[in-house]
Amino acid sequence: YYLGIDIGTSGTKTLLIQSDGTIVAEANAEYPLNQPRAGWTEQDPENWWQATIQTVRAVMASSKRKPSEVKAIGLSGQMHGSVFLDKHHNVIRPALLWNDQRTAAECDEITAAAGGRKALIKMVANPALTGFQAPKILWLRNHEKRNFDKLAKVLLPKDEIRRRLTGELVTEVSDASGTLLLDVVRRGWSKKLLGKLDLDADLLPRVVESDEVTGTLTTEVAAQLGLTTACKVVGGAGDCAAGAVGNGVVKQGVLSTSIGTSGVMFVHSDQPQYDVAGRLHTFCHAVRGKWHMMGVNLTSGGALQWWVDSVLQGLAGIDNAQRFQAATAEAQAIAAGSDGMLFLPYLNGERTPHADPHARGSFVGMNLTHTRGHMTRSVMEGITFALRDSLQIIESLDVPVRQIRASGGGSKSPFWRQMQADVFGKKITRLEVEQGPAFGVALLAAVGDGAYRSIESACRATIKVAEETKPDRKAVANYNKLFSIYCDLYGQLKDSMS
Ligand code: XUL
Repeated sequence: YYLGIDIGTSGTKTLLIQSDGTIVAEANAEYPLNQPRAGWTEQDPENWWQATIQTVRAVMASSKRKPSEVKAIGLSGQMHGSVFLDKHHNVIRPALLWNDQRTAAECDEITAAAGGRKALIKMVANPALTGFQAPKILWLRNHEKRNFDKLAKVLLPKDEIRRRLTGELVTEVSDASGTLLLDVVRRGWSKKLLGKLDLDADLLPRVVESDEVTGTLTTEVAAQLGLTTACKVVGGAGDCAAGAVGNGVVKQGVLSTSIGTSGVMFVHSDQPQYDVAGRLHTFCHAVRGKWHMMGVNLTSGGALQWWVDSVLQGLAGIDNAQRFQAATAEAQAIAAGSDGMLFLPYLNGERTPHADPHARGSFVGMNLTHTRGHMTRSVMEGITFALRDSLQIIESLDVPVRQIRASGGGSKSPFWRQMQADVFGKKITRLEVEQGPAFGVALLAAVGDGAYRSIESACRATIKVAEETKPDRKAVANYNKLFSIYCDLYGQLKDSMS
């Protein structure tokens, strides 16, 4: 048996699987997201640890497996966050998260130190973006000098959990790619960039491949979790690569969309191909010797959640217990294209394709015939258009796209799957059972334990595609027209967003 633990933004999900991929047990635990100022997001790593203990104990209790039957653990988590540790490995301050936008000045500082955007992309395959880890370290140096002076190590969220489980300070290539300090092509830390930023390489943990064993549980933790000290912990993966593995996106030609809080368009690549304009991220994949490119929308499902929970809450005709279903049912009754209403989902800045922390959301093109259902539909369409922006860049770089696999919240409803097929103009597939990043890293644990030769063979043995949704020709034509208007809007409205 293998455990997959995913340290998400809203909570932790833990899965126990059999080596053939059968889910034996699952548990979730939530924790708060702190926003001390607009655009700042933080979490207390202790909450992740408590959620880990709670969910592992819960799956062990409900599955009734013996401790010795669990052979290995895979870790996944929200990427880019920074856990700052002092020399005794105590956490210095709350972690800054992937969607924190406070580091615009530090991004400029990194770009300048690297000798410009092109030179930076050549070193680490990516431009400096506010969410990434390196600008967070510089922010600490620039704004909390006392904390920076205490700093001995910086870890990514899931790697902090590895430290608590095993005592080891290790990361793996997929998550390390999102620090902006990894030479993504060579799959090792970029000494060159670290030097230019005047950062000590010792601040960073050791970096391994995603299916490598990084340690075993400490005696104390094994007892606390109901496991044994023989239980291995493998590298795992950042949640995007882990989700892709869990969706079987481990070979050329397969692309996945994921609509969660953020939206991700993820494509496997056999080559370390990067976008010289820096609009897409090029990261190491959790597959040995492979890479992936992805576009990330910061507020994706999060925009629909904002709309339904903050705006529609308490309104007449919206059943509060069933708010989400009631709102999307209203949207479904509206024709594709929301009768010309458009929504830009940049509620908390945007990464792909604009890389603009000051971007903001808007509804455009409203008229007197529009209703609440139109607004809900245009929120969903805007989120899907934002994903198409990434697809368009991927295709312009000649990365082959033969199959689009939907995952996350956006794949659950047939309505949203059809919308994706129509907006992308392509067939959409989805899995029989989708378990996301926790499943992907449980498979990596199985590979690390020797149950499979490679992650590709583990995916072939365990993952089954269920359904196909075909695009509707009329809706595709309609969306094509609206999408070109959508693409122009950001440029036209940019000056009014701040
Ligand atoms: C990926 C990213 C997000 C987080 C969310 O680059 O920032 O998808 O990993 O969990």
